[in-house]
Amino acid sequence: MKHILHLISSIQGKESYSIKLGHAIIEKIQEKYPGTTLEELNLVDIQIPHLNPAVLRTFFIPKEQLSEEEKESIRFSDQAVKQLLAADIIVIGAPLYNFTIHSSLKAWIDHITRAGITFGYGENGPVGKVTGKKVYVAMSSGGIFSEGHNKDNDFVVPYLKAFLGFLGMTDLTAFRAEGLKVPEVKEHAMEKAINSIYID
Ligand SMILES: Cc1cc2nc3c(=O)[nH]c(=O)nc-3n(C[C@H](O)[C@H](O)[C@H](O)COP(=O)(O)O)c2cc1C
Repeated sequence: MKHILHLISSIQGKESYSIKLGHAIIEKIQEKYPGTTLEELNLVDIQIPHLNPAVLRTFFIPKEQLSEEEKESIRFSDQAVKQLLAADIIVIGAPLYNFTIHSSLKAWIDHITRAGITFGYGENGPVGKVTGKKVYVAMSSGGIFSEGHNKDNDFVVPYLKAFLGFLGMTDLTAFRAEGLKVPEVKEHAMEKAINSIYID
């Protein structure tokens, strides 16, 4: 039985295309793997704090030496890492805002990036420890970034692929609802995205 972690980072609630696309991906996963369980984490609703000096310092103190205050400061990070490690499949809703991912998704990434836990250092440099996961990205954007004149500004999927790969999540497939603000494209953009979904 598989377990899915669905990360939501849209600020558009019921109108969100990345949430709809994420749900369409989850539906297809559940068709393929009946009995799959789902945990949904709305990163916008929970208002993850930015990384700050105290949290960063605490990341590097051995667990048994932490004060109660320090333990509390990394409670969210510990919980987020636990949720991530418990998942077989991670579905990431990645709406494009101002050329990149929403700050809530970046904040989540900052909190799950823990030396000694989610990555380490080997003889040849950093080694990702979050292995054996499948990642699906549900990206949504007003413009078209997978091809054409905006391709040079395609930062969301390449960034997620590079960084999650650094942590060991090298098996990533992205589906895009794109051109949602392009007059001649927007009408069919969502349908096209849903039809492009395949579960491997
Ligand atoms: C604050 C904000 C910034 C945006 N910036 C961009 C942008 O830089 N490029 C673009 O193509 N679309 C941009 N859009 C359009 C979104 O990509 C589009 O609304 C998409 O549906 C967002 O995903 P969501 O529906 O899941 O929230 C922006 C939308 C908002 C609300």
